[in-house]
Amino acid sequence: FELPVLAPSILAADFTKLGENIQDCTKAGASWIHCDIMDGHFVPNISFGPSVVAAAKKAAPEAFVDVHLMIENPDNFVEDFVEAGADSITVHYETCPHLHRTIQNIKKYGVMAGVAINPATTISNIEPILGDADLVLAMSVNPGFGGQSFIPATYDRIKELARIRDEKGYSYLIQVDGGVNLRNITKVAKAGAEVLVAGSSVFRAEDITTRVEELTEKLSS
Ligand code: DX5
Ligand code: ZN
Repeated sequence: FELPVLAPSILAADFTKLGENIQDCTKAGASWIHCDIMDGHFVPNISFGPSVVAAAKKAAPEAFVDVHLMIENPDNFVEDFVEAGADSITVHYETCPHLHRTIQNIKKYGVMAGVAINPATTISNIEPILGDADLVLAMSVNPGFGGQSFIPATYDRIKELARIRDEKGYSYLIQVDGGVNLRNITKVAKAGAEVLVAGSSVFRAEDITTRVEELTEKLSS
C-alpha cells in the first residue's frame, strides 16, 4: 500500500449490509479496513468480535485488515483475530502490563504489531518499545465511539512520533484514529500521519465510494 493510506473504520458501517459497505470502500481504492473491537470494559461500548472480522476479510480478501483491540487482556484474543484474517493487531498500552512480551507474541503470528495510546497517555510511556512496534496509533479521540471530534493536541503528538522515529531510525507506521474528516485530513497527513482512520466521515456519507475518493484525494494533496 502507498502511504499515506485511508483506513475506513467499519464501526460506523451499516451492519445490515456490511459486505456491500466494505466493497464500496475497496471499489474506491481503500486498501485498509479498520476493525474496532470493544469489550465494554476497557471502553464503555461493545462492538464486535472475530466473526465480523472474518466477514470483513471475506468481503474484501485483498484488503489489509487492521484490528484495533480496545479490550482488556488482549493477549487472550490475538490468535482468534489472526485466524479471522487480521493483517495487523493493535493493542492499547493502557491494557498491557507486559507490553514488550505482548508485541513479541503478536509478531510470532507473522502479523504487524501496533501499539495505541489514549489522548492522556504520554509518548514517553511507550518509548521503550518504539523500536519493536510496526505501527503506533495516536488516538485523536477518547476510544469507545465513532462520531467524536478530533482532539487538536494530536497534531503535536504525530510530529513528536515522526521526530523520534527519524532520530532513532525506527520503522513504525504512524496511525491516527478518531474525528478525521474532509476538513482536517490534509492537515493530519501533513503533520506526519501515514494511516488515517475514518469511520463516520466515510459510512455516514451520502455516497461511500465518492467520500472515500474525496478523502483519498485530500490525503495526497
Ligand atoms: C474509536 C475508534 C475509532 C472510531 C473512528 O474508539 O477507535 O476507530 O471508530 O470513528 P470516527 O472516524 O467516526 O471518529
Ligand atoms: Zn479504531
